Amino acid sequence: MCGIVGYVGKRDVVSVLFKGLTNLEYRGYDSAGMALRDDGEIKIYKTLGKLINLKNELEARKSELKHPTSGIGHIRWATHGSPSLVNAHPHTCSCGKLVIVHNGIIENYKELREELLKKGCTFRSQTDTETIAHLVADEYASAKNLETAVRNSVKKLQGAYAVCVMHKDVPDVIVGARKHAPMLVALGEDENFIASDTPAIIEYTKKTIYLEDNEIAVVTKDRVRITDIEGNEIIKKVEILPWEPAALSKQGYKHFMLKEIHEQPDVIRNVLNGKLYDIDSPIILNEVKIDKEILKKLNKIQIIACGTSLHAALSGKYLIEDFAGISVDVEASSEYIYRKTTTDESTLVIGVSQSGETADTITAIKQAKAKNSHVLIITNRPDSNMARLADSLIPVNAGIEVSVAATKSYSAQLISFYLLAIHLAEIKGTLNKEYLKSIKHELIKLPSKIEEVLSNVEPIKTCAKKFSSYKNFIFISRGINLSTAYEGALKLKEISYINATGYAAGELKHGPIAMLDETMPVLAILIPGGITYEKILSNCEEAKARNAKLIALTSSNDKNLESIFDVVIRIPEINEIISPAITCVPLQLLAYYIAEYLGKDVDQPRNLAKSVTVE
Ligand code: M6R
Repeated sequence: MCGIVGYVGKRDVVSVLFKGLTNLEYRGYDSAGMALRDDGEIKIYKTLGKLINLKNELEARKSELKHPTSGIGHIRWATHGSPSLVNAHPHTCSCGKLVIVHNGIIENYKELREELLKKGCTFRSQTDTETIAHLVADEYASAKNLETAVRNSVKKLQGAYAVCVMHKDVPDVIVGARKHAPMLVALGEDENFIASDTPAIIEYTKKTIYLEDNEIAVVTKDRVRITDIEGNEIIKKVEILPWEPAALSKQGYKHFMLKEIHEQPDVIRNVLNGKLYDIDSPIILNEVKIDKEILKKLNKIQIIACGTSLHAALSGKYLIEDFAGISVDVEASSEYIYRKTTTDESTLVIGVSQSGETADTITAIKQAKAKNSHVLIITNRPDSNMARLADSLIPVNAGIEVSVAATKSYSAQLISFYLLAIHLAEIKGTLNKEYLKSIKHELIKLPSKIEEVLSNVEPIKTCAKKFSSYKNFIFISRGINLSTAYEGALKLKEISYINATGYAAGELKHGPIAMLDETMPVLAILIPGGITYEKILSNCEEAKARNAKLIALTSSNDKNLESIFDVVIRIPEINEIISPAITCVPLQLLAYYIAEYLGKDVDQPRNLAKSVTVE
């Protein structure tokens, strides 16, 4: 949630830290800060709000800086203590010689704080992070070695942390440590980096080392030493990042979200590539590392995820049950982890996550692993912590997603579920050949149909303008598009702050219909040719009878729809079972344009973070 970047080396330290923080900006934050080693001193700069404020502050005070040689930077998403200057990172010990930035939550910080207060430490903030600063300084007083001081301190911490520490008396050394929060070291020539995520360093190097829980890194200009919690040195694998820096540019679009929506046809081509060759060949999904004989007998799947990934999981349930006849439970990770589940060694547990760093899902996955379940991870970040826990890993290859609102990663997850469901059906022999061929045919055609939607956004823009002043929305559908309704509503509320709810159309009359009047638009997703169209249409008539404004998202050419609906948004003809891969796109665009009309911060909506690394 917070972002961390540290640098020691030959480049302009302020620029490197600033660029790194800018590339982590999408994760969401409320304040920012840097600690710079300069002229034998450690100088701290902090500002509230956007990074530009930190830039302006540094610009205004640049005469104070001679030649910084190392530094750590941070963007904060408040957990303990409100967003304020005093709570912004870096934090210091009482004498100010030691500085720290931190991502995560320290659960026992109150007890530690009590002890440190008794020892005479002066606390200035309400954060849990400041406790770590005092703790490390206290340990340093006796150990006289920063690495040892950090090691002794983290042994006392409960909770989650990725920390970077510098000390005035230990020039140009950054010590990093992590547990349940991501951290990596990146290697350059006469320079090294430490960061919470790869975008922070991608401009400079692709060589990275991922730290595991309880590992400690000592980073200097020409050396990186990594040890375990007992101090034993570890030789780690250097990985080469697959991303290009261009992935972090808007490439002419006004917002990352719009760019990412438009990337979806290519993202889908990417996901299908190498897995779906033609309509006559079986799906190739070698990523699923379970023996085919076991898969044939598999009768229980649990999918765990959060937010948008949870909505993709709901579509996955529908598809796997429909295609392969295997019973699937879907649950929000945050619920799964606090109850007795029926997960066992014969359950296939699927974790879905764009970031691969969502704390609740990681905890859920660890719990499932402890029950000896086979864990399959579907993620956009094969370099993530979650990916490293996987027994089977399906990387969705959507490319870096910068906008906080997930769009292309959702499409990529959806397509991965189509492939998985077909793969299971092919192994189990549950679908007839002609039906399988028709589904594969539709999947192959998908990218060009989405391109058609993207080349005709005017009706969606007009609809957005017409409805941008409404305060409440209901999105309805049935069957395979119910999860699309949930996702459409989530997109709208997270970037425009309009109250929107996704609802099973048949459930309207069991309560929500009481809310309907001319102030509550109802958006219905209805795809003809399947089993739900007529039913949804009747539900819309019920809403119309209560004076609700109606919007249809449909592939129907029926001109009579215009007499029922206030607005009809049309998509290309599509088989109902495949349609969620298209219907999600106009809903993303509708949310985008409404937020745009309302002047909202589309890519970084308030209170949200791109990856939620705390429970
Ligand atoms: O990285 P994950 O997919 O695990 O993240 C889960 C949710 O936090 C995420 O989908 C969130 O709901 C997005 N803001 C949705 O746009």
